[in-house]
Amino acid sequence: MEAVSVSAPGKVILHGEHSVVYGRRAVALSLDLRTTLTLTPGGARLELDLPEVEIQQAWPLQDVEALWERLGRPGEKCAAPLTEAQVAQVRDFLGLPEDPPGGPRGLALLSFFQLYLAILPRPVPATLRVTSQLPTGAGLGSSAAYAVCLSAALLRLAERGSAPDSVPSAEVSGGLSLKEVSGWAFRSEQIVHGTPSGIDNSICTYGGAVSFKAGCCSPLGAPPLRVLLVNTRVPRSTKALVAAVGARRSRLPEVVEPVLDAMDALAERALQTLSELSSAASPQQQDEAYAALHELVDINQALLASLGVSHASLERLVGVAAAHGLHAKLTGAGGGGLGMVVLGRDTAPEAVDKCRGELEAQGYQVWQTTLGAPGLTFH
Ligand code: MEV
Repeated sequence: MEAVSVSAPGKVILHGEHSVVYGRRAVALSLDLRTTLTLTPGGARLELDLPEVEIQQAWPLQDVEALWERLGRPGEKCAAPLTEAQVAQVRDFLGLPEDPPGGPRGLALLSFFQLYLAILPRPVPATLRVTSQLPTGAGLGSSAAYAVCLSAALLRLAERGSAPDSVPSAEVSGGLSLKEVSGWAFRSEQIVHGTPSGIDNSICTYGGAVSFKAGCCSPLGAPPLRVLLVNTRVPRSTKALVAAVGARRSRLPEVVEPVLDAMDALAERALQTLSELSSAASPQQQDEAYAALHELVDINQALLASLGVSHASLERLVGVAAAHGLHAKLTGAGGGGLGMVVLGRDTAPEAVDKCRGELEAQGYQVWQTTLGAPGLTFH
């Protein structure tokens, strides 16, 4: 078996963060910052090298085999997700605390082991090296891109997950069914995030732009979208933020449900607007569509703030953008993390430069980029 090299993009949620957890529509686009994984079978150990979260660790294969036996040989007959009790045994094997299991490093280890043990028919020696351009824990889908790469490389190693001939080519990469890869990455996201909606693993697998609702993902033919991505550098936990919204919804369902419905309507409207943008026949029609998109960005930021997931650093970012006539919202789970300024066809370059300069002077990290990069890729 030869080495397998794969990469997956990060993601940005345009609309629908949090509401998507409760079955409402979301729209996400991929980002051309990628995670790359190379899996080389062979040797006498299982080795994981993931410098971004300071993992450089190797386990003798007989220790991994003993764990696999203790777990009752998962994956032997068919690829099978680990049960909660099995995940707890893996956590003990790795010496990780229960909840949260040791920060990004612990989550990356747990994610790796549970996919490795679930997907392969039996432990095999291999070296996995992962590098990423995505900052960890910022809301750019670093954990989902990692899980997509792991799932794809392990499915390929196990010779499992091949797409039948009937699957359309847009839903296949390297012979693997994208739905299957995304499904395995979702398992891993459940460990990292608790109750993920599935949007992050979907967009990091399919790339481009996707619309997602109640577990169903539809790739979109959206136009490339220019944005300023802004890192507040305020760390936060997606799991904790999702739980906080859940608690507010339980306390005040009659208040929160209409907000979630408004977010759903807003995402539907954004889909319509993106399609108008794709089919616009004149610069004037494009500008009208951008104006509608910007209005939706402003409204969604206010709705997200009402769920309690904004943050002083995000509010400052929105204020700086507005002072330059631009439109910004948080993206991802909020509470710090990432925000984005959605640009238009004719956004004045001076306004963009001034906004960027002011944000950088205030300590934000800013990238100007175009969304809509390719999804899972075999190299
Ligand atoms: C995180 O990128 C997006 C959230 O909606 C959580 C999820 O969908 O799993 C906050």
